[in-house]
This record gives sequence, C-alpha cells and structure tokens, in this order.
Amino acid sequence: MNAGHWIEHFRQNQNAWTEPDWESPGPFLADEELERRRLLADSLATFQLGESGGGSHIRRFVRQSGAGEDYQMAVALFVREEQRHSEILAGMVGRLGGKLKRRHWANSAFRLIRNRLGLGFNIQVLLTAELIAEAYYGLLGRRIPDPPLQSACAKIVRDETKHIAFHREFFRSIQRRWLPMATGLWSAQFQTLFLFAESLVWLDHGRCLRAFGIGRREFRDRARAGCRRFLFGVAFPGGGDGLFEGGSLAQNSELVAKPGNL
Ligand SMILES: [Fe+2]
Ligand SMILES: [Fe+2]
Repeated sequence: MNAGHWIEHFRQNQNAWTEPDWESPGPFLADEELERRRLLADSLATFQLGESGGGSHIRRFVRQSGAGEDYQMAVALFVREEQRHSEILAGMVGRLGGKLKRRHWANSAFRLIRNRLGLGFNIQVLLTAELIAEAYYGLLGRRIPDPPLQSACAKIVRDETKHIAFHREFFRSIQRRWLPMATGLWSAQFQTLFLFAESLVWLDHGRCLRAFGIGRREFRDRARAGCRRFLFGVAFPGGGDGLFEGGSLAQNSELVAKPGNL
C-alpha cells in the first residue's frame, strides 16, 4: 500500500478544520430541547470513550507484523486523528451539558475482542466501528439543529471516510494473493460481525437516533451501504466502488463531507 500518501493526507488533515465555539448560543440550547440534548450527550459520550484510547495495541501489532516504517508512521498519525475525535466529542458533550464516561460495556467488549487476535482482526474491529460511525454521524449531522454540532459531525464523517479507505488499502494488500474462496470466507465473517455490531449499536443508541427522526431502517440501510462499498472495494480493486448505484466511494464521500450537504 502507498503509506507515504496516507502520511501526507493525515498531516495535511491536522489543520483542515476550525473548531467551532462550543459556548456560542443557539436554539438547540433552549429548555424545550433538554430531553433531546440529554439523550444525545449520553450517546456521544459513549462514542467519546471509544475514541479515547492511546492506540498502544494497534501500534504494537503493526511493529510486530514487520510492516515498514512508513506504515507505522501512517498508523501513528491515524491514531492521533482518532484521539482528536475524542477531544471533539468531549467538546460536543460539554456543549450539551452532559458528562463524559469512564466505562461502558460496549467499549470494554470492543477492546477485549479487538486486542486478542492480531493486527488484521484489530483493524477489522476498528473498521466496523468506523463504518457504523459514518452512518451515525452522517445521519445525525443532518438532523441536529445546531451548527457547531453539525460541523463536528461533518468533520468526523470526513475523517472516518478516509480511515475506511486507509484500511481498505491494508486489506487489499494482504488479500491480493488470496484465492477468491478465502476472500469470500473472510467477507462472510466480516459481515457476520458487522451485523452483530450494528444491532448492538442500535440497541444502545436507537433511542437517541429516533429522537432525531432517524428510524431503524434508515440507520441500517446507511450502515450496510457503507459495509457493501467497503467489501466490494476490497474484492475489486479499482472497480468495486463503481458497482454501487450511488456512485463511487469518492463521490459518496464528497456527499457526506461538505457541511452544506448536512
Ligand atoms: Fe474516529
Ligand atoms: Fe476512524
């Protein structure tokens, strides 16, 4: 994979977004929105906890895998970007008057399984969370009536879309010598875990999403479209993206990336 390209991307992206004023007034801070703010703060605080890790396991796995220094550097910058998401989410929770979390069962479960089975599985679990996050923030960003929170959602969606592409290159590079049967088996287990995670996220965050008019079906369709795009992108390098009715991944990324589209 072209790790140099990703180092360049992550470096350039460090200053590509201006943090909003979390203290600025807005109609979403009115008393009548208290219940939705409470639900949203609780939901975002769970995601904040998930983004707050130091990345020590993935960096160790990368070192042990014998990957080159460029990929190690790209992963370190990727981890830094996830930590930045944790800071942004803390700003969002603070704006909503919520409290950050120190523990959550989903976060503990994710970490436990992620750190057991080596680099490929570690990245798979991270990637599953990113595919779901892309749907979660993409849908919420359109519905939350608050410009600072919309801007933060758009920023996270933009970054996660690139993270998914970064991991897609990783999986392409390790699967390029596999037989189609092996790729198919890997894809089947990927989809099984993805569906499980998607159901758990809806159980935990569905009440919040529903409060903003986002139904189970809309969430499921968006998350699964991202999953399909990713899997086809791995299986058909250079051509998989175009198999989707919605256009290429790059085109779809454009759609979710511009704050004006939220
Ligand atoms: Fe993230
Ligand atoms: Fe990410």
